[in-house]
Amino acid sequence: MDYKDLAAKAIDAKKTAVPTYSKFFVGSALLTEDNKIYTGGNIETSSYGLTICAERTAIFKAFSEGERKFKAIAIAGDTDGFCSPCGACRQVISDLCGEIDIILVNKEQEIKIFKTSELLPHAFSDDNLR
Ligand code: THU
Repeated sequence: MDYKDLAAKAIDAKKTAVPTYSKFFVGSALLTEDNKIYTGGNIETSSYGLTICAERTAIFKAFSEGERKFKAIAIAGDTDGFCSPCGACRQVISDLCGEIDIILVNKEQEIKIFKTSELLPHAFSDDNLR
């Protein structure tokens, strides 16, 4: 699949970010199995650790609207290199989205595609809780 549109939505979602302290704008766009797109930006608070990354904003928005099946998530940052999801987001993607395509988008609008298990091999999951 061509992820150009999803990447464009992630780039656009940077506008919704509230990076008050880092000034680092990240946008994300999550594609559901039936081709709906949920977007999100990173939102920071004065207690820095309570910040939510763009990916998690998009995923939690989708989940709270009842979505459960996903195909891909795009993550766009204003970086020369690719803005790779943090460890917490990798766990959330793995748990809530499963094995999907993760599309990283840099400031030149180039893309790089990974699978969830490539970015979080040997993941902890609800299988471990049974
Ligand atoms: N951030 C994201 O939103 N997604 C990522 O994949 C990496 C980091 C945010 C968190 C924080 O608001 C800012 O970028 C700097 O770490």
